[in-house]
Amino acid sequence: MGVIDSQNVNEIIRRTLSIINPKIIEHGEIVGYMLYKMLEFERRYGEQELLDYTMLGMLHDIGLYREDGLHNVADFETAGSPWSHSIYGFLFLKYLSPMGDKAEVVLYHHLDYSRYGMVKNKYSHVTECLALADKMDNFMRCRETKIKDNYFSKYRNIQFSGEALDLFHKAEKEYGITAKLASGEYRRELSDIMSRGVFSEEYKKGFLEMLVYSIDFRSEHTVVHTMSTVNFAMQLGRLMGLGAKDLQSLYYGALLHDLGKVAIPLDILESPGRLDEKDMRVMRAHVRITEMILSGLVHEDVLEIAARHHEKLDGTGYHRGLSEKDLTLPQQIAAVADILSALYGKRSYKDSFDSGKIRKILQEDADNHKINKQTVDCLMEHYDEVIAKYEEQKDETIGLYLSIKQQHEEIRKRLEGIAP
Ligand SMILES: [Fe+2]
Ligand SMILES: [Fe+2]
Ligand SMILES: [Fe+2]
Repeated sequence: MGVIDSQNVNEIIRRTLSIINPKIIEHGEIVGYMLYKMLEFERRYGEQELLDYTMLGMLHDIGLYREDGLHNVADFETAGSPWSHSIYGFLFLKYLSPMGDKAEVVLYHHLDYSRYGMVKNKYSHVTECLALADKMDNFMRCRETKIKDNYFSKYRNIQFSGEALDLFHKAEKEYGITAKLASGEYRRELSDIMSRGVFSEEYKKGFLEMLVYSIDFRSEHTVVHTMSTVNFAMQLGRLMGLGAKDLQSLYYGALLHDLGKVAIPLDILESPGRLDEKDMRVMRAHVRITEMILSGLVHEDVLEIAARHHEKLDGTGYHRGLSEKDLTLPQQIAAVADILSALYGKRSYKDSFDSGKIRKILQEDADNHKINKQTVDCLMEHYDEVIAKYEEQKDETIGLYLSIKQQHEEIRKRLEGIAP
């Protein structure tokens, strides 16, 4: 029993990324669909593999989302060098999603076909097909993307694989891909494909984690904040004796609680000083946006944990101004975890506080009937242990964050050496 249905995972990704730039998501779906039809025609791969590759096709430009200022960019592919987003996409998918090694397909989606011999790629066939589908969609949107009419005759086996193009034509003849794209019918087929696959809990969890962390990647503080909120929430939930079902909801609620920050500009997220009234209002909108993204797609319990993390027991919180009687224990635990994470973590405007100060603030909040007193008491009793457990995990996450940044640089140098 899961709290999020398989096909909804995709819809959450879609709604979230659409906020940044709906064109990239549409492009991803078209490319994913074309790739699926090409591979379906070959009958070479099993159902699960096909599903994985379709997901990779849909998410091949996910690395673009870590860049700010993407709102309203029509020709996003050429907005910068193609390497950066290919590499980030590859690393996010490889380390943060269930795709593992298959993520290589994304790494090379902008590499010219004539240079394939210069890299080792276990998945070169799918890469060829993905790269072709990517070019095909850019070609169909040529008014925005500058691909010329004679592109496919001129650059055969230079920029793209001729074999992949032939495969596309065969699949086009069999399935009428372009007609389905034009009529919009592909969307229904794509969601059918997605709903046919039953994702394991791990698979769903992996994709949602990847979504959250690849957006959070815009700012190290945010990555650490999300991760520590999840960690503290789970520890507090266990200490407070929550059952398995509540713990699961708490996990997803905490993971997704700040998803709405996707809509908040980086200069507000990373503001070096305290926010003024106007910016604060923008910042506060993140809860409403989180709620909007998740509504109808996750179990009510998860939605409410995520959407109520800034509510206070005395009714002074936001965005609904609910009070104690409306807030369940898991919701109240998530709120404590969020505050603890904010106090303990470094922010752009503050260093982390020492434990004396953190304990004092939390105690005051509990005494003033802002946050759940039992949870705070329980935390006080186990404070050092909770922090120690978190520190263990934090090293891993920051390590992963730093390692992704470092690998990004190394791969970029290597690829620029091959194809400047
Ligand atoms: Fe791309
Ligand atoms: Fe693309
Ligand atoms: Fe928040």
